[in-house]
Amino acid sequence: MAKRIIVKNGDPLLRLRSKVVTEFDGRLAQLLDDMRDTMIAENGVGIAAVQVGVLKRACIVCPDGETSYEFINPEIVKKSGTQSSVEGCLSVPNMSGEVERPKKIDIRAYDRFGKQFELKATGYLAIICCHEFDHMDGVLFIDKVKKPEMEKNS
Ligand code: CO
Repeated sequence: MAKRIIVKNGDPLLRLRSKVVTEFDGRLAQLLDDMRDTMIAENGVGIAAVQVGVLKRACIVCPDGETSYEFINPEIVKKSGTQSSVEGCLSVPNMSGEVERPKKIDIRAYDRFGKQFELKATGYLAIICCHEFDHMDGVLFIDKVKKPEMEKNS
């Protein structure tokens, strides 16, 4: 169990492109375990490695608090439809806003052992995946928010 510090909006690290993972080793496994602990401690539904200060294309998505998915070097190979929902982000505290995302996506990614897999995601799962994958390209949900005004949660 190791909770890491969340990188917050304003830190230039969040705007950098994360690097493709080439070593599927114990260090990657430790990173993913720590990311998961951090996500749970912060009550998040997803987390990307850059959010704990590591520029690697890795993320965890946990739409229901139980099932968690790990994606290494993910790619969206197909997308269709649109859906909108109010998003927030552990790196952008006290802010939320409506964002449009694809309704369905086909993902190709690797697991922590370097095995490639494909997953079809729809609904909430697709939304979180798109949000986390954006982090790997230095994109935050606030860049895509439909309404210019941001709501304060607190
Ligand atoms: Co986020």
